Amino acid sequence: SPNQRSTILVSEKLGEAGLELLRSFGDVECLYDLSPDELCSKISSCDALIVRSGTKVTRQVFEAAKGRLKVVGRAGVGIDNVDLQAATESGCLVVNAPTANTVAAAEHGIALLAAMARNVAQADASVKAGKWQRSKYVGVSLVGKTLAVMGFGKVGSEVARRAKGLGMHVIAHDPYAPTDRARALGVELVSFNQAMETADFVSLHMPLTPTTSKVFNDETFAKMKKGVRIVNVARGGVIDEDALLRALESGIVAQAALDVFTEEPPKESKLVQHENVTVTPHLGASTKEAQACVAIEIAEAVVGALKGELSATA
Ligand code: MLT
Repeated sequence: SPNQRSTILVSEKLGEAGLELLRSFGDVECLYDLSPDELCSKISSCDALIVRSGTKVTRQVFEAAKGRLKVVGRAGVGIDNVDLQAATESGCLVVNAPTANTVAAAEHGIALLAAMARNVAQADASVKAGKWQRSKYVGVSLVGKTLAVMGFGKVGSEVARRAKGLGMHVIAHDPYAPTDRARALGVELVSFNQAMETADFVSLHMPLTPTTSKVFNDETFAKMKKGVRIVNVARGGVIDEDALLRALESGIVAQAALDVFTEEPPKESKLVQHENVTVTPHLGASTKEAQACVAIEIAEAVVGALKGELSATA
C-alpha cells in the first residue's frame, strides 16, 4: 500500500545524522560487508539502497531487485560503481552527494602533494626503523613549480585555489572547462598535451568514464617532462597502473601519490611497494566533517526520491 514504510538498505558506513533522517522516513537496515550474492538476495525487499565506493551495484543487483528498488544513493560523488544503464532499464533512480566532500578531497590532494614532495611517508618509516637519513630524503620545492590540474570541476578547482596559495603556477585541462572559473582563480586552461608537456606536478580530478579510463597510459607518460610527480585522489581506473610502474622505473615519473586504485584494495604490489610511491586507502572523502555532510546530503536526496520529488538520474 502507499502508506507502507519504505525499506532502506545501507551497505556501507554512513554518518549518524543521515541515518536519523532516513529512520524518520523508513525502516533502515545497516548491513556492511555483504557479499555480491548476499546483496542480491537482500535487495528484492528494499526500496532504497545507499552505498559508498565499496559496493558494486551491478546489473545482477538490479535484476535481483525485481522492480521494487526505487533509488540507489551514492554517498559520495563518483557513480562509477553503479551500472547506470541497468538502473535506467529497471526504472531505478541513481542519486549522489555532489558537493559535501569536495573540500575533503581537495585537502587530501594537497596533503599528498606536499607529503610526496618532502618524502614524509618514506622518512617517517625510516625514522621509525631507527634510521636518521637526512640526505636521502632531500625533497623538492612546490613554490614556482607548474601544477597541471586534470579535470577542473569542483575538486579540481579547490585544489587549484590551494596550490595558488602555495605559490605554484597552476594550469588546468578540462574538456568542459568553465573559463570564468579559471579566470577568477588565475588558472590557465590548456590542452591535454600542453598540460602533459609543461607540468612538474600533475593532479588528477576527472571522473572515471569509458573516455577517461586509462587515459594516463604509456603514450601519455611519454609526453610528460622527465621527473614529473603525480597525485591521484580521483579514480584508480584513469591510470594504466602497469604503465605507471614502467614510467616510475624508467624515471619519467619521479614520484606518485595514490589514494585510489583500479581494484580496491589493490593487488598490484609492485606499484604499491615502490619506494617512490606514497599510498593511502581511498581516504579523499574521509574527514569527520565531510562524512557528516555526505550522510545528510545523500539521505535528503534518497528521501526526496522515495517521495517522488526527484526525476533525474545523477
Ligand atoms: C566520492 O566519489 O565521493 C568518493 O569516492 C567517496 C568515497 O569515499 O566513497
